Amino acid sequence: MIGKRVLNELSAYKQGMQTSEVQRTYNLDKIVKLASNENPYGFSPSVAEELTVNGQAFELYPDGYASDLRTKVANKLGVHLDQLVFGGGSDEVITFICRAFLYEGTNTVMATPTFSQYRHHSLIEGASIREVPTVNGKHDLASMTEAIDEQTKVVWLCSPDNPTGDIIHPEAFELFMEQCPNDVIVVLDEAYYEYVPYSFQLSLNESLEKYSNLVVLRTFSKIYGLAGLRVGYGVTSEEIAEKLNVIRGPFNTSSFAQQVVQVALDDDDFIAVSKKKNLEVKNSFKAFLDEIGWEYYESFTNFLLVKTPIDADKATHYLLERGFIVRSGNQLGYPNTFRLTIGTKEDMEDLQAVIKQLQKDVDEEVIK
Ligand SMILES: Cc1ncc(COP(=O)(O)O)c(C=O)c1O
Repeated sequence: MIGKRVLNELSAYKQGMQTSEVQRTYNLDKIVKLASNENPYGFSPSVAEELTVNGQAFELYPDGYASDLRTKVANKLGVHLDQLVFGGGSDEVITFICRAFLYEGTNTVMATPTFSQYRHHSLIEGASIREVPTVNGKHDLASMTEAIDEQTKVVWLCSPDNPTGDIIHPEAFELFMEQCPNDVIVVLDEAYYEYVPYSFQLSLNESLEKYSNLVVLRTFSKIYGLAGLRVGYGVTSEEIAEKLNVIRGPFNTSSFAQQVVQVALDDDDFIAVSKKKNLEVKNSFKAFLDEIGWEYYESFTNFLLVKTPIDADKATHYLLERGFIVRSGNQLGYPNTFRLTIGTKEDMEDLQAVIKQLQKDVDEEVIK
């Protein structure tokens, strides 16, 4: 059985320990999962109501074009219906982009470290990767521009970036777009867009109008709290969307997911409240980190990348044994850090107590 040769060099996505597994392994009563940047406040209460009230004909295939959802999203964003492509999470839209535009002999430019899936799927399509190191957790856009050549087909921008949470400022984005050849696709991944303060949010409509080579990615997995449903989308020019829709499987988002995310889309209050609570808890957690002298990257999201006084795997394990699941930065390209989702006020206060103890153990050399 011989697949693409590159598959021998890559491995399947390695997920963190699941909550039940941690519970069993460490025999703990309570586990707080802060590893995947989900919304700790759950999802809109109107979604719960929809689930009990309006049933579904599960024996039928879904509307593959996702007409109702498409209309709703298009109206909300002020774009044409055919500027959208829906995927099983924005992850799937990333695979469409790679499949559509990358192949042997082409190259693709991205920051490093950044969200891992751009690299992974670009390699699978046989493209060569031009990774431009971030500077203090920020995309180095000048060097990324320099890395573009005749064979470059796709550039990936992640804003806010994962794993730092920092953004590309609108003026820097503009400058980059002005210099980028317009036959190169620029993907702007905005998975955490709704968490960004309004003054730093890019105008989607203006950008799409100006740049026909732009693909913006959004998702229902983060602030909407619907990661388990797997719906994300790309919004772009009709020309690019048409190509991506050729690749999309005929029924790639389920009828159930389409129905539920539409309800979530109507609940602006839930989004506003999640954003506000996240900011409050994040600010007080940052104040706590300042107090104990731990550094962190600037974050416009619901997560923080925190520098650890000991090896990140050890620090992560210390927290895990005490019921907190966070991601070690060693696997994310930022050694001696961990990335944690901003949980609820109560959970973050409990976490503070554990971190204080960790610092004490480090000071007393109980742990090195
Ligand atoms: C930057 C970024 N992009 C895309 C995704 C994929 O999200 P989903 O496939 O759930 O829409 C994530 C998930 O963590 C992410 O952090």
